[in-house]
Amino acid sequence: MNKEKVSRFYDVVWTEYIPEYAETENHWRMFYSPEEVSGKTVLDAGCGTGIFSIIFGNNGAGYVTGIDISEGSLGTGRTMKEKFNLENIEFRQEDMLHLPFADGSFDIVWAWGTVHHTTDPLGAITELDRVLKKGGSLFLAIYKRTRATWIHEVIRKICVRTPRWSWTFLSKIMAFFLSPVVFFFKRREKSRKGEKLEELILDWYFVPIRHYYYPEEIEQFLTATGYTIEKHLAHSGRFNSSSNFIFKSRK
Ligand SMILES: C[S@@+](CC[C@H](N)C(=O)[O-])C[C@H]1O[C@@H](n2cnc3c(N)ncnc32)[C@H](O)[C@@H]1O
Repeated sequence: MNKEKVSRFYDVVWTEYIPEYAETENHWRMFYSPEEVSGKTVLDAGCGTGIFSIIFGNNGAGYVTGIDISEGSLGTGRTMKEKFNLENIEFRQEDMLHLPFADGSFDIVWAWGTVHHTTDPLGAITELDRVLKKGGSLFLAIYKRTRATWIHEVIRKICVRTPRWSWTFLSKIMAFFLSPVVFFFKRREKSRKGEKLEELILDWYFVPIRHYYYPEEIEQFLTATGYTIEKHLAHSGRFNSSSNFIFKSRK
């Protein structure tokens, strides 16, 4: 039931959401290069509208499989694939907790901002690990738990109880009041530009499932599973308390 709520949420909320290509590719280049992905098989787990599948495909990956539970988002991804005229990508509706792929199917598994929206984030990482080859590369961006997390959760628990028809309106009002705060108190530039504040607010506060972790918890989980951490980014957003932390690790 919760999974259906998440897929309906992203069907409605994010189908039109396409981050700006060049800025998003710059973010991707912090972790991968065309040389590293050349000819590789890639799983984009929870690909959403598919921007990172397109970036992998456009940078020489052999084959990219973008999976998501939101058919609406996948539709946008398929349109983008046509626009970029890429043959080496497919978008499929699948649940990352139960992937229909054999063990060790992929060279690279990329999951930006996705496992924390499943009912079982550590179970999702275990499933991603299963389909990754030995020696493969696992990329995870996960919501960070901070001292302010409880405030975000109080707001989210109120927002998810409001009627769906009011969400766009409410997120615009919240963006209006939050924009001066963002302007004056932001600590750094966003890592992924092209997102409007109201879209981020929808994603932060109206999403049905949202888990948070301390980076150390995920680091321990990865090292206990046999991974070596290659890159770590402590924050990806303007505020520490609304950021994803990132680990790129080797199996
Ligand atoms: C915040 S969006 C991120 C989309 C994309 N990775 C990006 O960076 O633009 C989270 C995505 O995870 C997907 N998702 C959530 N639970 C999932 C599951 N169990 N299996 C596959 N995708 C899932 C959602 O449908 C949504 O598209």
